[in-house]
Amino acid sequence: MGLTMELAESLAAIALPCYIANATPVLVAKLLGRTHPLDFGLKLPDGHRLLGDGKSVEGFVSGVLAGTLMGWLLSPLGLSDVSRAFTLSMGSMVGDALGSFLKRRLGLRRGDPAPLLDQLSFLVVALASYQLTYGDLSPLTVTLLLLLTPPIHLATNYLAFRLGLKDRPW
Ligand code: CTP
Ligand code: MG
Repeated sequence: MGLTMELAESLAAIALPCYIANATPVLVAKLLGRTHPLDFGLKLPDGHRLLGDGKSVEGFVSGVLAGTLMGWLLSPLGLSDVSRAFTLSMGSMVGDALGSFLKRRLGLRRGDPAPLLDQLSFLVVALASYQLTYGDLSPLTVTLLLLLTPPIHLATNYLAFRLGLKDRPW
């Protein structure tokens, strides 16, 4: 197999579960209308919420499930498997929540833009969890994902905004 093909496949195998996990909560929250905050409304001594209303139990769980399902769909192609995709999806949802945790500590409100944090927190924790568990990520795959994800994230969020799925274009 050529290097380009191998790289394209490994990018897809890693990126797809993460992207699906990250996008699903937006749709699920929109469909459900009412959701339950992942932080149970908890406020920290700094006066700000632990995570805020933008992170829901429904979003977290559906993200992990959808990303894992993506791995199941990719497995006949030899690209991923349920357990790898679960690791990536769980990492994505934890990373996304960690991003919100940091935003709240910075005093940013739900939905306020935090450049790079908004686009990469899910990916960084997903890649770290994956690497700690499987250890077979190549530096090239990591570099390309870190470079390609912010523009892809911005473009898809703008699309979701235009489709009426999100209140803000980022
Ligand atoms: N969402 C959710 N549960 C999650 C993640 C996201 O319900 N675990 C939904 C919420 O409706 C959220 C929307 O997806 O408002 C967009 O997600 P995101 O941009 O990550 O959240 P923000 O609303 O921007 O909140 P924050 O400022 O905390 O990032
Ligand atoms: Mg946001």
